[in-house]
Amino acid sequence: MSLPAAPADFRAAARRRLPRFLFDYIDGGAFAEVTLRRNLADLEAISLRQRVLRDVADVDLGTTLLGQRLAMPVVLAPIGLAGLTARRGEVQAARAAHAASVPFTLSTVSACPIAEVRRGLPAEAAFWFQLYMIRDRGFMRDLLAEARAAGCTTLVFTVDMPVPGIRYGDYRSGLAGAPGLAGSMRRVGQAMVRPRWAWDVGVRGRPLGLGNVAPVLAGKSGLNDFFAWMRANFDPGIGWRDLDFIRAEWAGPLVIKGVLDPEDAREAVALGADGIVVSNHGGRQLDGVVSAAHALPAVAEAVAGRIALLADGGVRSGLDVVRLLARGADGVMIGRLWPWALAAGGEAGVAHLLRALAAEMRVAMALAGVRSVAGIDATCLSRSD
Ligand code: GLV
Repeated sequence: MSLPAAPADFRAAARRRLPRFLFDYIDGGAFAEVTLRRNLADLEAISLRQRVLRDVADVDLGTTLLGQRLAMPVVLAPIGLAGLTARRGEVQAARAAHAASVPFTLSTVSACPIAEVRRGLPAEAAFWFQLYMIRDRGFMRDLLAEARAAGCTTLVFTVDMPVPGIRYGDYRSGLAGAPGLAGSMRRVGQAMVRPRWAWDVGVRGRPLGLGNVAPVLAGKSGLNDFFAWMRANFDPGIGWRDLDFIRAEWAGPLVIKGVLDPEDAREAVALGADGIVVSNHGGRQLDGVVSAAHALPAVAEAVAGRIALLADGGVRSGLDVVRLLARGADGVMIGRLWPWALAAGGEAGVAHLLRALAAEMRVAMALAGVRSVAGIDATCLSRSD
């Protein structure tokens, strides 16, 4: 199996492998995709500062995040349906992340349920779990209990999706708004022109549904129910006070994902979050908002080191990881990159991606004259930025 050299090249590899509805779902953003493009453009525009003759013989990517020792400051972001990009995909991605000593975050709306990911990992491996506020609090309680029993260390609570963003790409591809037989036939047609995926995942990778949600969907956990279930079950009435409910159910580290505003960041600190993810949900929610790269310095100032600061959005390289760290993040979530790598090469693809990101970070840090993750800060940026 030949894998692409550069992390960003995995996108093209995934496009060749995946049926259109799945590739477009991962690739796309909300509304006119302004924020989606902005995420990339803002990162690209951050100029790093080259330093020379600073003894960079030993560059160390290791860091501690939320009490966990990591080989590098990278976390696999939660992505719904990502496990459909390869056979029982989340298990494969979680294995690669464990081997690379970085956390994998399992989405509530993953293909593989919590218990399956647990079974696929060595006993000592832990993963993170992501939760949405769901109307049925009993269901949430059960999911959290399962995550705890599976040894999940950290809970990522996503707050920027009280309602799903409008993603026209999913309507164009037939993933959304195409109910019944006609919709299924359309997706089957797209799968048939990707025979390798159709056989490996579509046939041998069954069941193809939402693993964690299957018990409450009572046999209706197929793809056509995905958005309907989210619209019907996500709770748009959620407020900051609802964090008390989560806190009561979850004793471990709690990370609030989807904060862009310094006032919201202060609120998260005041209500006892252990971390936040500065994120616009990969440009998939409120189109037109700023990028994490742009929002970070003000949020970092508001948080003032009291809790862990993660960020995501538009990361396509180890260089981008360094850029977000220099803007104030303690750790960086990678989103689309990992399901692309999973589609291209399964567990080996994600392992390759993580090795490539580490190699890129190491070179970028050496050329910026920093030896440790703690040393990456605003002084690594060109003063004109
Ligand atoms: C789910 O979180 C999505 O962005 O589709």
